[in-house]
Amino acid sequence: MIKLDKVSKKFGTGVFGLSDISFDIEKGEFVFLVGPTGSGKTTIFRLLIRETLPSEGSIFVNGWDIVTLPKQKIPHLRKKVGVVFQDLKLLSDRTILENILLPLDVAGVSLNEAKVKAEEVLTQVGLISHKDKFPIQLSGGELQRVAIARALILSPDIILADEPTGNLDPATSWEIVKLLSDINEKGTTILMATHNLDIVKSLAKRIIELEKGHLVNDNKNNKEEKEKKSHPKKEEEKEIKEKETGEEKKEEKHETL
Ligand SMILES: Nc1ncnc2c1ncn2[C@@H]1O[C@H](COP(=O)(O)OP(=O)(O)OP(=O)(O)O)[C@@H](O)[C@H]1O
Ligand SMILES: [Mg+2]
Repeated sequence: MIKLDKVSKKFGTGVFGLSDISFDIEKGEFVFLVGPTGSGKTTIFRLLIRETLPSEGSIFVNGWDIVTLPKQKIPHLRKKVGVVFQDLKLLSDRTILENILLPLDVAGVSLNEAKVKAEEVLTQVGLISHKDKFPIQLSGGELQRVAIARALILSPDIILADEPTGNLDPATSWEIVKLLSDINEKGTTILMATHNLDIVKSLAKRIIELEKGHLVNDNKNNKEEKEKKSHPKKEEEKEIKEKETGEEKKEEKHETL
Protein backbone atom coordinates (compact mmCIF):
# COMPACT_ATOMS: atom_id res chain seq x y z
CA MET A 1 0.00 0.00 0.00
CA ILE A 2 2.88 2.36 0.93
CA LYS A 3 6.48 1.59 0.05
CA LEU A 4 9.57 3.72 0.45
CA ASP A 5 12.82 2.37 -0.95
CA LYS A 6 16.09 4.12 -0.04
CA VAL A 7 14.42 7.52 0.02
CA SER A 8 16.44 10.65 0.72
CA LYS A 9 15.27 14.24 0.68
CA LYS A 10 17.78 17.03 0.49
CA PHE A 11 16.32 20.52 0.62
CA GLY A 12 17.57 23.48 -1.40
CA THR A 13 19.20 24.78 1.77
CA GLY A 14 21.47 21.70 1.76
CA VAL A 15 19.67 20.24 4.78
CA PHE A 16 18.91 16.51 4.60
CA GLY A 17 15.30 16.09 5.72
CA LEU A 18 15.49 12.32 5.18
CA SER A 19 18.36 9.91 4.53
CA ASP A 20 18.03 6.44 3.06
CA ILE A 21 14.58 5.59 4.40
CA SER A 22 12.99 2.24 3.51
CA PHE A 23 9.78 0.71 4.86
CA ASP A 24 6.56 -0.70 3.59
CA ILE A 25 3.09 -0.59 5.07
CA GLU A 26 0.43 -3.09 4.16
CA LYS A 27 -3.23 -2.42 3.53
CA GLY A 28 -5.20 -2.08 6.76
CA GLU A 29 -2.20 -1.42 9.04
CA PHE A 30 -2.16 1.28 11.73
CA VAL A 31 1.36 2.61 12.12
CA PHE A 32 2.79 5.25 14.42
CA LEU A 33 5.54 7.46 13.02
CA VAL A 34 7.56 8.83 15.91
CA GLY A 35 10.68 10.91 16.38
CA PRO A 36 11.79 14.24 17.82
CA THR A 37 10.94 17.53 16.21
CA GLY A 38 12.79 17.92 12.91
CA SER A 39 13.29 14.17 12.46
CA GLY A 40 11.41 14.07 9.13
CA LYS A 41 7.84 12.95 9.89
CA THR A 42 6.04 15.72 8.00
CA THR A 43 8.54 15.41 5.15
CA ILE A 44 7.48 11.77 4.71
CA PHE A 45 3.83 12.84 4.53
CA ARG A 46 4.63 15.54 1.99
CA LEU A 47 6.43 12.98 -0.17
CA LEU A 48 3.53 10.52 0.04
CA ILE A 49 1.07 13.04 -1.43
CA ARG A 50 3.58 14.33 -4.00
CA GLU A 51 3.74 17.75 -2.41
CA THR A 52 7.48 17.39 -2.85
CA LEU A 53 9.75 14.93 -4.66
CA PRO A 54 12.53 12.83 -3.13
CA SER A 55 16.15 13.55 -4.07
CA GLU A 56 16.78 9.81 -4.27
CA GLY A 57 14.88 6.56 -3.98
CA SER A 58 11.44 5.35 -4.97
CA ILE A 59 8.01 5.72 -3.41
CA PHE A 60 4.89 3.73 -4.17
CA VAL A 61 1.44 4.61 -2.84
CA ASN A 62 -1.60 2.52 -3.66
CA GLY A 63 0.21 1.09 -6.69
CA TRP A 64 1.31 4.47 -8.06
CA ASP A 65 4.96 5.26 -8.59
CA ILE A 66 4.98 8.66 -6.92
CA VAL A 67 8.19 9.88 -8.52
CA THR A 68 7.07 9.30 -12.10
CA LEU A 69 3.36 10.01 -11.52
CA PRO A 70 2.19 12.44 -14.21
CA LYS A 71 0.95 15.77 -12.84
CA GLN A 72 -2.60 15.19 -14.05
CA LYS A 73 -2.78 12.02 -11.94
CA ILE A 74 -1.97 13.85 -8.67
CA PRO A 75 -5.69 14.58 -7.93
CA HIS A 76 -6.36 10.81 -8.18
CA LEU A 77 -3.63 10.17 -5.64
CA ARG A 78 -4.99 12.86 -3.28
CA LYS A 79 -8.47 11.32 -3.45
CA LYS A 80 -7.06 8.06 -2.15
CA VAL A 81 -4.88 9.62 0.55
CA GLY A 82 -6.66 11.77 3.14
CA VAL A 83 -4.40 14.04 5.20
CA VAL A 84 -4.94 15.52 8.64
CA PHE A 85 -2.38 18.31 8.47
CA GLN A 86 -0.26 19.30 11.47
CA ASP A 87 -1.60 22.87 11.20
CA LEU A 88 -5.15 21.62 10.30
CA LYS A 89 -5.49 24.02 7.34
CA LEU A 90 -9.12 24.91 8.09
CA LEU A 91 -10.51 28.09 6.56
CA SER A 92 -11.61 30.48 9.28
CA ASP A 93 -14.22 32.27 7.12
CA ARG A 94 -16.05 29.06 6.22
CA THR A 95 -18.38 27.03 8.41
CA ILE A 96 -17.48 23.52 9.48
CA LEU A 97 -19.77 22.08 6.80
CA GLU A 98 -18.23 24.32 4.13
CA ASN A 99 -14.73 23.31 5.20
CA ILE A 100 -15.68 19.64 4.91
CA LEU A 101 -17.24 20.23 1.50
CA LEU A 102 -14.10 21.74 -0.02
CA PRO A 103 -12.37 18.52 -1.15
CA LEU A 104 -15.66 17.33 -2.70
CA ASP A 105 -15.91 20.57 -4.57
CA VAL A 106 -12.44 20.05 -6.00
CA ALA A 107 -13.29 16.44 -6.87
CA GLY A 108 -16.30 17.64 -8.90
CA VAL A 109 -19.03 15.93 -6.85
CA SER A 110 -22.54 17.44 -7.16
CA LEU A 111 -23.61 19.71 -4.28
CA ASN A 112 -26.48 17.52 -3.11
CA GLU A 113 -24.38 14.39 -3.13
CA ALA A 114 -21.61 16.31 -1.38
CA LYS A 115 -23.91 17.50 1.42
CA VAL A 116 -25.15 14.00 2.11
CA LYS A 117 -21.58 12.71 2.31
CA ALA A 118 -20.44 15.67 4.47
CA GLU A 119 -23.26 15.11 6.95
CA GLU A 120 -22.37 11.43 7.06
CA VAL A 121 -18.73 12.08 8.02
CA LEU A 122 -19.65 14.85 10.47
CA THR A 123 -21.96 12.38 12.20
CA GLN A 124 -19.16 9.80 12.20
CA VAL A 125 -16.81 12.19 14.05
CA GLY A 126 -19.61 13.37 16.38
CA LEU A 127 -19.84 16.96 15.15
CA ILE A 128 -23.07 17.14 13.21
CA SER A 129 -24.57 19.62 15.68
CA HIS A 130 -21.61 21.97 15.02
CA LYS A 131 -21.89 21.99 11.24
CA ASP A 132 -22.94 25.62 10.90
CA LYS A 133 -20.37 27.00 13.34
CA PHE A 134 -17.07 28.62 12.36
CA PRO A 135 -13.70 27.13 13.34
CA ILE A 136 -13.11 29.83 15.99
CA GLN A 137 -16.21 28.60 17.87
CA LEU A 138 -14.82 25.07 18.34
CA SER A 139 -12.35 23.59 20.83
CA GLY A 140 -8.97 22.15 19.79
CA GLY A 141 -10.25 18.56 20.01
CA GLU A 142 -13.33 19.43 17.96
CA LEU A 143 -11.17 21.10 15.32
CA GLN A 144 -9.04 17.97 15.08
CA ARG A 145 -12.25 16.03 14.45
CA VAL A 146 -13.20 18.47 11.70
CA ALA A 147 -9.79 17.91 10.08
CA ILE A 148 -10.32 14.14 10.33
CA ALA A 149 -13.81 14.49 8.81
CA ARG A 150 -12.33 16.47 5.92
CA ALA A 151 -9.67 13.78 5.41
CA LEU A 152 -12.43 11.13 5.37
CA ILE A 153 -14.76 12.83 2.96
CA LEU A 154 -13.42 11.23 -0.23
CA SER A 155 -13.44 7.76 1.38
CA PRO A 156 -9.67 7.41 1.11
CA ASP A 157 -7.77 4.12 1.32
CA ILE A 158 -5.08 5.76 3.44
CA ILE A 159 -5.17 8.47 6.11
CA LEU A 160 -2.02 10.34 7.09
CA ALA A 161 -2.54 12.08 10.43
CA ASP A 162 0.24 14.51 11.34
CA GLU A 163 0.38 15.00 15.12
CA PRO A 164 -3.42 14.89 15.54
CA THR A 165 -3.16 14.95 19.34
CA GLY A 166 -0.77 17.91 19.58
CA ASN A 167 -1.99 20.52 22.10
CA LEU A 168 -4.85 18.31 23.33
CA ASP A 169 -5.41 17.09 26.89
CA PRO A 170 -4.91 13.35 27.51
CA ALA A 171 -8.63 12.45 27.51
CA THR A 172 -9.26 14.29 24.22
CA SER A 173 -6.11 12.75 22.73
CA TRP A 174 -7.45 9.30 23.52
CA GLU A 175 -10.79 10.17 21.92
CA ILE A 176 -8.98 11.18 18.72
CA VAL A 177 -6.93 7.97 18.70
CA LYS A 178 -10.11 5.96 19.31
CA LEU A 179 -11.73 7.69 16.35
CA LEU A 180 -8.73 6.91 14.10
CA SER A 181 -8.68 3.37 15.43
CA ASP A 182 -12.38 2.93 14.53
CA ILE A 183 -11.68 4.26 11.03
CA ASN A 184 -8.80 1.76 10.75
CA GLU A 185 -11.12 -1.07 11.83
CA LYS A 186 -13.23 -0.32 8.79
CA GLY A 187 -10.22 -1.00 6.57
CA THR A 188 -8.48 2.36 6.11
CA THR A 189 -4.70 2.21 6.40
CA ILE A 190 -3.46 4.80 8.92
CA LEU A 191 -0.07 6.39 9.40
CA MET A 192 -0.07 8.70 12.41
CA ALA A 193 2.87 10.95 13.32
CA THR A 194 3.03 11.75 16.99
CA HIS A 195 5.15 12.89 19.92
CA ASN A 196 2.65 11.36 22.33
CA LEU A 197 4.64 8.45 23.72
CA ASP A 198 1.99 7.59 26.33
CA ILE A 199 -0.40 6.68 23.55
CA VAL A 200 2.24 4.93 21.44
CA LYS A 201 3.47 2.82 24.36
CA SER A 202 -0.03 1.87 25.45
CA LEU A 203 -1.15 0.49 22.11
CA ALA A 204 0.33 -2.57 20.44
CA LYS A 205 0.79 -0.96 17.06
CA ARG A 206 3.71 -0.92 14.70
CA ILE A 207 6.10 1.95 15.40
CA ILE A 208 8.46 3.48 12.86
CA GLU A 209 10.95 5.73 14.58
CA LEU A 210 12.96 8.48 12.93
CA GLU A 211 15.90 10.44 14.24
CA LYS A 212 17.52 13.29 12.33
CA GLY A 213 16.10 11.95 9.07
CA HIS A 214 17.24 8.35 9.63
CA LEU A 215 15.02 5.37 10.34
CA VAL A 216 16.30 4.09 13.68
CA ASN A 217 13.59 1.58 14.58
CA ASP A 218 10.74 -0.33 12.98
CA ASN A 219 9.05 -3.05 15.01
CA LYS A 220 7.29 -4.55 12.00
CA ASN A 221 8.77 -7.96 12.62
CA ASN A 222 8.59 -7.76 16.37
CA LYS A 223 7.25 -11.07 17.64
CA GLU A 224 5.31 -9.67 20.56
CA GLU A 225 3.60 -7.25 18.24
CA LYS A 226 2.52 -10.12 16.00
CA GLU A 227 1.21 -12.10 18.95
CA LYS A 228 -0.84 -9.17 20.15
CA LYS A 229 -2.12 -8.62 16.65
CA SER A 230 -3.41 -12.17 16.49
CA HIS A 231 -5.42 -11.28 19.55
CA PRO A 232 -8.70 -9.69 18.83
CA LYS A 233 -9.26 -6.02 18.38
CA LYS A 234 -11.20 -6.29 21.61
CA GLU A 235 -7.93 -6.30 23.51
CA GLU A 236 -7.10 -2.97 21.98
CA GLU A 237 -10.58 -1.56 22.44
CA LYS A 238 -10.33 -2.54 26.09
CA GLU A 239 -7.03 -0.66 26.37
CA ILE A 240 -8.51 2.46 24.83
CA LYS A 241 -11.63 2.20 26.97
CA GLU A 242 -9.56 1.83 30.12
CA LYS A 243 -7.53 4.89 29.19
CA GLU A 244 -10.64 6.92 28.43
CA THR A 245 -12.46 5.98 31.60
CA GLY A 246 -9.25 6.46 33.59
CA GLU A 247 -8.98 9.98 32.29
CA GLU A 248 -12.66 10.64 32.91
CA LYS A 249 -12.24 9.52 36.47
CA LYS A 250 -9.28 11.83 36.86
CA GLU A 251 -11.32 14.71 35.49
CA GLU A 252 -14.25 13.98 37.76
CA LYS A 253 -11.84 14.01 40.65
CA HIS A 254 -10.57 17.42 39.58
CA GLU A 255 -14.07 18.80 39.46
CA THR A 256 -14.92 17.60 42.91
CA LEU A 257 -11.76 19.09 44.40
N1 LIG B 1 10.96 23.18 2.92
C1 LIG B 1 12.04 22.96 3.67
N2 LIG B 1 13.22 23.56 3.40
C2 LIG B 1 14.32 23.33 4.13
N3 LIG B 1 14.37 22.48 5.18
C3 LIG B 1 13.24 21.85 5.50
C4 LIG B 1 12.00 22.05 4.79
N4 LIG B 1 11.04 21.29 5.34
C5 LIG B 1 11.63 20.63 6.37
N5 LIG B 1 12.93 20.96 6.48
C6 LIG B 1 13.89 20.43 7.45
O1 LIG B 1 13.84 19.00 7.38
C7 LIG B 1 13.89 18.42 8.67
C8 LIG B 1 12.65 17.56 8.91
O2 LIG B 1 11.49 18.40 9.03
P1 LIG B 1 10.02 17.83 9.29
O3 LIG B 1 9.10 18.97 9.21
O4 LIG B 1 9.80 16.68 8.40
O5 LIG B 1 10.17 17.31 10.81
P2 LIG B 1 9.06 16.70 11.77
O6 LIG B 1 9.58 15.38 12.23
O7 LIG B 1 7.74 16.73 11.12
O8 LIG B 1 9.09 17.72 13.00
P3 LIG B 1 7.90 18.16 14.02
O9 LIG B 1 7.79 17.04 15.00
O10 LIG B 1 8.44 19.41 14.64
O11 LIG B 1 6.68 18.40 13.23
C9 LIG B 1 14.06 19.59 9.65
O12 LIG B 1 15.43 19.73 9.91
C10 LIG B 1 13.51 20.76 8.88
O13 LIG B 1 14.11 21.97 9.28
MG1 LIG C 1 5.98 17.72 11.54
